Parts: sequence; C-alpha cells; structure tokens
Amino acid sequence: MSDSYLTLSFLSPILALILILLLFKRNQKPKLNLPPGKMGWPLVGETIGYLKPYSATTIGDYMEHHIARYGKIFKSSLFGGPAIVSADAGFNRFIFQNEGKLFECSYPRSIAGILGKWSMLVLVGDMHRDMRTISLNFMSNLRLRTSMLKDVEKHTLLVLRSWKENTKFSAQEEAKKFTFNFMAKHIMSMEPEDAETEELKKEYVTFMKGVVSAPLNLPGTAYRRALQSRATILKFIEGKMEGRVQNIKEGNKIERLEEDEDLLNWVLKNSKLTTEQILDLILSLLFAGHETSSVAIALAIYFLPACPPAMQQLREEHTEIARRKKQAGEVELTWDDYKRMEFTHCVVNETLRLGNVVRFLHRKAIKDIQYKGYDIPCGWKVLPVLAAVHLDPSHFDHPQLFHPWRWQNNGSGGRMPNANNYNFMPFGGGTRLCAGSELAKLEMAVFIHHLILNFQWDLAEKDQPFVYPFVDFPKGLPITVQRHF
Ligand code: HEM
Ligand SMILES: *[C@@H]1O[C@H](CO)[C@@H](O)[C@H](O)[C@H]1NC(C)=O
Ligand SMILES: *[C@@H]1O[C@H](CO)[C@@H](O)[C@H](O)[C@H]1NC(C)=O
Repeated sequence: MSDSYLTLSFLSPILALILILLLFKRNQKPKLNLPPGKMGWPLVGETIGYLKPYSATTIGDYMEHHIARYGKIFKSSLFGGPAIVSADAGFNRFIFQNEGKLFECSYPRSIAGILGKWSMLVLVGDMHRDMRTISLNFMSNLRLRTSMLKDVEKHTLLVLRSWKENTKFSAQEEAKKFTFNFMAKHIMSMEPEDAETEELKKEYVTFMKGVVSAPLNLPGTAYRRALQSRATILKFIEGKMEGRVQNIKEGNKIERLEEDEDLLNWVLKNSKLTTEQILDLILSLLFAGHETSSVAIALAIYFLPACPPAMQQLREEHTEIARRKKQAGEVELTWDDYKRMEFTHCVVNETLRLGNVVRFLHRKAIKDIQYKGYDIPCGWKVLPVLAAVHLDPSHFDHPQLFHPWRWQNNGSGGRMPNANNYNFMPFGGGTRLCAGSELAKLEMAVFIHHLILNFQWDLAEKDQPFVYPFVDFPKGLPITVQRHF
C-alpha cells in the first residue's frame, strides 16, 4: 500500500510533465514557412531604411538590396510591426482580389489622424463601400464626359494663360494650381480667383507636409501644424455646408446653378452621412484629387523634354486634332478629341509607370494566409509595392527608359511579351481601385494638349523627382517657357 502510494506520488509529477509536454506539442503550431528577410531593430525595424528618400525613377537602395537578397516577396519589420513586402505582380494582384476577405486596407494611425477616421483610405467594409459609391457617382462617366471635361480644359487654359515667357517658375506649383482649382470647383463650387480658394490652397500645403512627416504630435512639428491645418480646413468646409443647409431649408433657392451640381450639394441631398462623415469625405477627396494628379502632370513636364521624338510625335498628334477642330468650327475639346489622343495615352501610361506617383499601399492580413508555399500570419502588415513591379526588367524592357512607344499595340516598343494588365497598376486595384483614375488621365491628357500646342519648355535648373515616400521635386521643377508664335 505504502509502496504503491510512494510509486504513484513519485510518478505523478513525471506523468503530469509528460501530459503537459504532449498538450504543448499539440497546441504548438506547425513551423511557419515565412518568406525570407530580416526583422531589423526592435520597434523601428527597418522603417528608416525603407523610408530613406531616393530617386523616383528607381526602386531605391532598400528595395534593390532586399529583392537581390531575398526575392520579390520578403519579410521585414516596418511601421511598428512585422510586415511582408511584395514586389511581385502576381502577389499584388492576389492582394487586391482578396480585399476584405484575406487582406484589409490598413494605413498607419498617423494618416487616420490627419485624413480623419471617416476618410476612404481608412474605412473598410460597408462604410467604405458607401463612401466609394458616392465618389464614383461624383466622377461618373457622364459627368466626366460633360462638365468635367469642359472644366478640365477651362482650368488648364486659365493656368497656361498666366505663364510668362523667359521667367523661371515652378511647374509643380502650376500643376497643383490647376488640379486644386478644378477639384475645389467641382466639390464646393469655389472659384479660382477668390481669396478663400487661395487661403484653402495654402492650408493644404501645410496639411501635405504633415502627411509626409513623422507623426510626432509635439509643438513645432510638421505633424502638429498639419493637425491644426486639418481643423482649419474642416471649419472652412463646415461653413460652406451650413450655408447650403440653410439654402436647402429655405426652399432650394440656389444662387448659382452650378452649386446644385457640386459634390457638397449632392452629398447633402442624396446621402445619410453625418456632418462629421461629410467633412472627412470632402477633405480627403480634395486631398486625393489634387496632390496626386498634379505630381503626375509635373512628371510628364519633366520626362518629355528629355525625349525629343516623343515631343515631336505629341506635337503632330495635337496639331492634327487642333486642325480638325478648326475645320469643323469647334472650340472646346470633345470626348472624341480625347479618344483620338492615342499617343498621348501612351505618354500618360509611361509617365505613371516610370514616375510612380503612389509607390506602395498599406494592407494587413486578416486571416492566416498561404501564398505560393509561404505563410503570412494573421495581423501582419502586407505592403504591395506597385513601383517595384513597374520598374522590373522582367515586365518592362529597359524599365528606366521613358519610352511611350512600349504602350503601342504593334509591340515594337518593348513591353515584355508576358505583359498583362496586372503588371501595370498605378491606381491600385480591386474594390479599392482609385476612384479618380479616369479623371486623372483626362487631366493629364488635356493639360498636355494645350501645353504642347502653346509652349516649348526647358528645365531651368537641374531638379528630379524624389520619393519621400510621396513623390516630389525638391526645387519644385523650375522651368522656362517660350510661346510657339
Ligand atoms: C495620377 C493620379 C492618381 C494616382 C496615381 C492615384 C492613385 C491611387 C491609388 C493607388 C489608390 C488606392 C489606394 C489603396 O488601395 O490603398 C487610390 C485611391 C483613391 N483615389 Fe486616387 N490616384 C490619383 C488621382 C486621383 C484623383 C484625381 C482622385 C479624384 C478625386 C482620386 C481619388 C481617389 C479615391 C477617392 C481613392 C479611394 C478609393 C477607395 O478606397 O475606394 N485619385 N488612388
Ligand atoms: C494604359 O494602361 C491601362 C491600364 O491601366 C490600359 O488599360 C490601357 O490600355 C493603357 N493604354 C495604352 C495606350 O496602352
Ligand atoms: C509602331 O511603333 C513604332 C515605334 O516603335 C512607331 O513609330 C510606329 O508608327 C508604330 N506603327 C504602327 C502601325 O502603329
């Protein structure tokens, strides 16, 4: 009795240990096959290397080294957590196709702090879908072909007519003037000459500096100033809104007809959004709609003079369009004219491919995911790097070369034979594809049309686009111009 008791009491801890070990073993996940890569320092990880500024027509040292060492899909630690970085066209497409199912949009908290928690970049799920529907309605094909085309041309001419010969000025600023004036007009019926439009434009400059800065909410930082700018911009939009609400209440006496057509009125009349939601929507549409396409236009102004044959071919294309219009007695550009700008469309694509206005996107895995044998744990950040695909020699021959002809159908230009529509995704993809992509391309083409017909331009100082990670010209791209006649 005491013997067996002794044995038992001696054995039981061993049994318990075995049991615990067995349970532990069962609970332990099978070994994950994570993509190769290194996690870097605690907390900061490799973020500093990843964000180090570099020339916009390259993928930068960080991507260069990591792809050479680990391949096109690798792990790292970025923006405060473990991350999978993808320079792989197929994986990027997989990410877009599975938005909301396996992946979810996930921008750093600092972006939400500035753009607002109701901004489309931040929202996911049903709320994102509702906001997206509003934006797509606002930029419908019908509106694009009628009022937007007309105003894109009007605002282009307004900017170009103010240019003086033989004086140096910033092409980047002029492009921004154009895209901002256009958006402010279509969103809130603001006029380019008005003082309030200029004020708002100034606030957006401070605002933008905060978006690109380190998110330190301390006195004197760019981020703090941007938060103050955000408050000022919101107050401004709210002021406009109150005026409209008053108008609608007092029986629809709209002073200016176009107000009935702008986004603010549309949202007030046709949606059930709260004031806070409308404010964030308008603030971020105004932001997304002018900071991106203005950079794209500046990039075209930068790339073209270095490629005289493209300049020549553009000039022929637009002179021919202008000639036909004159013959037909037309003044304003029509949608057919736009469709006829075939080579220009190649220039637009090539500018977006080589310049990469939006370098990479922020996603996270919302499930444990397997892709091509790799495990991607739930909760990890996933960063599709669009630029790395566009500058990949296995997708585009001599990717560093500005060569618009590669987009021509006759195939002589050097887009690789395996070209397909997922190795070119300047506007993202899937259910979050840029809502303004058609508008952006229209703005670029119409601006190029009048630019090339009226001016010859030269870069007045050496300047080149850098990734901060937003693409920007350090000197603002100074140019001088000469009129053609
Ligand atoms: C060349 C110019 C532009 C580029 C390269 C660009 C690029 C992008 C990209 C890559 C996204 C996807 C972001 C993500 O998935 O996380 C996006 C989203 C968006 N863009 Fe653009 N964009 C441009 C111009 C515009 C313009 C002119 C507008 C006009 C309002 C606009 C409005 C939007 C909106 C509303 C979204 C959010 C769409 C959604 O979440 O459903 N963009 N853009
Ligand atoms: C430009 O790229 C888009 C894909 O974003 C494609 O659908 C279009 O055909 C391209 N245009 C030209 C002229 O190749
Ligand atoms: C084919 O591409 C070349 C440029 O590489 C261009 O000069 C030529 O006009 C194109 N031909 C046709 C039929 O589009």
